[in-house]
Amino acid sequence: MHSVEHNNHTHRIREITCADTEDMNTVADLHIELLGFGPMAALGRRFIRDACYANNMRDGQLRVSVYEIDGVIGGFIAYTDQSISFHRSSLSKHWFKTGLTLLMSLLEDPRRIAALWRAFAVLGSRRSEQEVVGVDPMGEVVCIAVQPKYLKSEYRTESGARAGGALVVYAAHQLNELGVSMMRMLVDDDNKAVLFLYRALGANFESYEQAGKPTVQVWFDIQKLVHVRGNPWA
Ligand SMILES: CC(C)(COP(=O)(O)OP(=O)(O)OC[C@H]1O[C@@H](n2cnc3c(N)ncnc32)[C@H](O)[C@@H]1OP(=O)(O)O)[C@@H](O)C(=O)NCCC(=O)NCCS
Repeated sequence: MHSVEHNNHTHRIREITCADTEDMNTVADLHIELLGFGPMAALGRRFIRDACYANNMRDGQLRVSVYEIDGVIGGFIAYTDQSISFHRSSLSKHWFKTGLTLLMSLLEDPRRIAALWRAFAVLGSRRSEQEVVGVDPMGEVVCIAVQPKYLKSEYRTESGARAGGALVVYAAHQLNELGVSMMRMLVDDDNKAVLFLYRALGANFESYEQAGKPTVQVWFDIQKLVHVRGNPWA
């Protein structure tokens, strides 16, 4: 994968596979550290790594790309081209492995049982989306996170982009190659940083009622984003 040099730093985006244990552990750690407020993190690192990521990466319905600065992973993005069916099919295809991973996570720390209702609420809210929001293929950024130190101006590339924006544009290019025309994200309405980022990249916002908490549905026209931002990583 092509890398970009600027300000004495080397930037690179690469896709990871679920077979690479080190990469998977790093992404799970970043998820716990930076997305600890989300519904799945409270179920623990093993659950994040194996049930949320590895199972779905293995069958191709989830892709994960990492942003490396000077060879160190500083952020990642997880995205799918099956936004509408992703959560449902993940559970129906992998119910046994997911159940087993959940059991192990609960045995490690029984207090995690308190997090279960939130996880089920997310799955329940996604069920009601079918034929309301649209049909697949539809893109979705499921998670994005960058370590705060890599958001400093020092790590902007020559075009002024930071890791977060670069990862979103990269995912849009990948989805564009798959023939997907729209990409969305569901964002807590108090997550100002990511909403500012999406607004700066040209997204449209609408309210999303199904989540059971104040949530913004963010939409990108992929062709427009890809056209306006180009692809320095090709
Ligand atoms: C999401 C994330 C990658 C965005 O990174 P980023 O866009 O590169 O950087 P920032 O977080 O600094 O914020 C983006 C922009 O919004 C602005 N901003 C952030 N919070 C703000 C606030 N509360 N009020 C006003 N502006 C704000 C920043 O100044 C920045 O604008 P700039 O580019 O003009 O300087 C990063 O914030 C992150 O990892 N957050 C934790 C994980 C997360 O919440 N992920 C989203 C849910 S999946």
